[in-house]
Amino acid sequence: MAIRVREFCSAAAFALVFAGVLRCAASYDRPPSRGMVSVPRSDGRDSSSPDQASDLWIDVNGFLILVLELLISCFVHQLRLKWLKIKVHISMVGKDKMRISWITEDFSTPAIVNYGTTKGGNYQYSSSGTSNSYEYVLYKSGEIHEVVIGPLLPNTTYHYTCGADITHEDFQFKTPPAQFPIKFAVVGDLGQTEWTNSTLQHISGSNYDVLLLPGDLSYADVYQPLWDSFGRLVEPLASQRPWMVTQGNHEIEKIPIIHTHSFTSYNSRWHMPFEESGSDSNLYYSFEVAGVHVIMLGSYTDFKNGSPQYNWLVSDLAKVDRNITPWLVALIHAPWYSTNTAHQGEEESVGMKEAMEELLYEALVDVVFAGHIHAYERFTRVYKDQANPCGPVYINIGDGGNREGLASEYTTPQPKISAFREASFGHGELEMVNASYARWTWHRNDDDQSVVADSVWLRTLKSVSNCKQLMN
Ligand SMILES: *[C@@H]1O[C@H](CO)[C@@H](O)[C@H](O)[C@H]1NC(C)=O
Ligand SMILES: *[C@@H]1O[C@H](CO)[C@@H](O)[C@H](O)[C@H]1NC(C)=O
Ligand SMILES: *[C@@H]1O[C@H](CO)[C@@H](O)[C@H](O)[C@H]1NC(C)=O
Ligand SMILES: [Fe+2]
Repeated sequence: MAIRVREFCSAAAFALVFAGVLRCAASYDRPPSRGMVSVPRSDGRDSSSPDQASDLWIDVNGFLILVLELLISCFVHQLRLKWLKIKVHISMVGKDKMRISWITEDFSTPAIVNYGTTKGGNYQYSSSGTSNSYEYVLYKSGEIHEVVIGPLLPNTTYHYTCGADITHEDFQFKTPPAQFPIKFAVVGDLGQTEWTNSTLQHISGSNYDVLLLPGDLSYADVYQPLWDSFGRLVEPLASQRPWMVTQGNHEIEKIPIIHTHSFTSYNSRWHMPFEESGSDSNLYYSFEVAGVHVIMLGSYTDFKNGSPQYNWLVSDLAKVDRNITPWLVALIHAPWYSTNTAHQGEEESVGMKEAMEELLYEALVDVVFAGHIHAYERFTRVYKDQANPCGPVYINIGDGGNREGLASEYTTPQPKISAFREASFGHGELEMVNASYARWTWHRNDDDQSVVADSVWLRTLKSVSNCKQLMN
């Protein structure tokens, strides 16, 4: 019988802190979920991934080595699971730049990205960036590299390599277009189960430009190696199109006494362009692409009137020019509107809605996406719980495929403002076809098929004349 030492050690640490997250895992009854998927490391290892050293498999004869390894691992805080050398994801930075983020086990790999518009060794451009790592209880992350590249042409395919060695794997991405049409894929509460895999397969066939994720990414829930496996699971998509995310409750990962900082892993691994949007926190920011202004809010940081986030939102909304970005979209994690019985009455929903609903309404926000509830629900335009033709459309899309299963109980009767609700895994697509019209579709994972189960045309409030009077 063989035991992988570091996994044993990590599992012990995990067991120790598991009690702290049970609360999240058992919040309501859901039908059985599909299994976890595991994305193995690639076998094509090279010199920058000396992971064999820690892949210590032991048998009876290896007992002494086990003891030695345990001592070293647990007491010298060098506990690191060795995974795939590279886990790339990209995100937009400003109008024409892209942040390339990847992780290596080798701390001597330089943060360099070579890129160009043609495939193959001789790239026209090269940029360098920074490298960092973080520690979490006994876990030490690999080296997290970030390089911002650009200026880039819109709607153009770029090829790139990460690290100095150009024999590394080639990746490619397409930049978003500079004008309409533009298509967003939207999915929350992703996790890493077989359902997640189905969802990702369907998204990958959608020809989307930018992915929006309203929180709850890996469901690592303090067990850090799951952040690494999540990185591997999403890499095929997240290395090809920008993934713009905001945080959910599963990103907090704060444990009293043991690890007192919040969002350690999330902030280290998913650096979003908050500096460029005048925000002082990675937990809330905005960006603009092809006539759309997207506001990413943080449900799990202070949102009260007068808080830094609140003040930032006021100033960000004031900067929006609807002649340049006719569409205005916001994302949160805990929904402000939901007729599901799950997660009712939480402060992040009720308190944040109370603090910020009026700001979004007065700014004529077109759509507000949320996650948290593991089901799909679309509302009509609402404001202060009443149907209102000048309010945002609220859409809960927390049905990416996480391991907690679905939230399938709803309050009855279905109120009029709830236009469509269904507890199935799936994803959404929002295509702004022009400055006035957008098509929203919800794609249910029907076994392995992607089926459009809900669709609606949206008109931007900017073009609705009797709503304009609200704008200053
Ligand atoms: C995801 O699904 C595809 C298609 O069904 C399959 O080939 C692949 O192995 C799955 N990936 C994982 C990690 O399970
Ligand atoms: C992006 O490029 C594709 C293929 O070259 C083209 O069909 C499409 O119209 C372009 N989109 C925009 C918005 O320019
Ligand atoms: C915008 O797209 C809609 C739907 O395709 C179409 O009916 C409308 O004429 C378009 N408007 C403009 C200004 O192109
Ligand atoms: Fe959540």
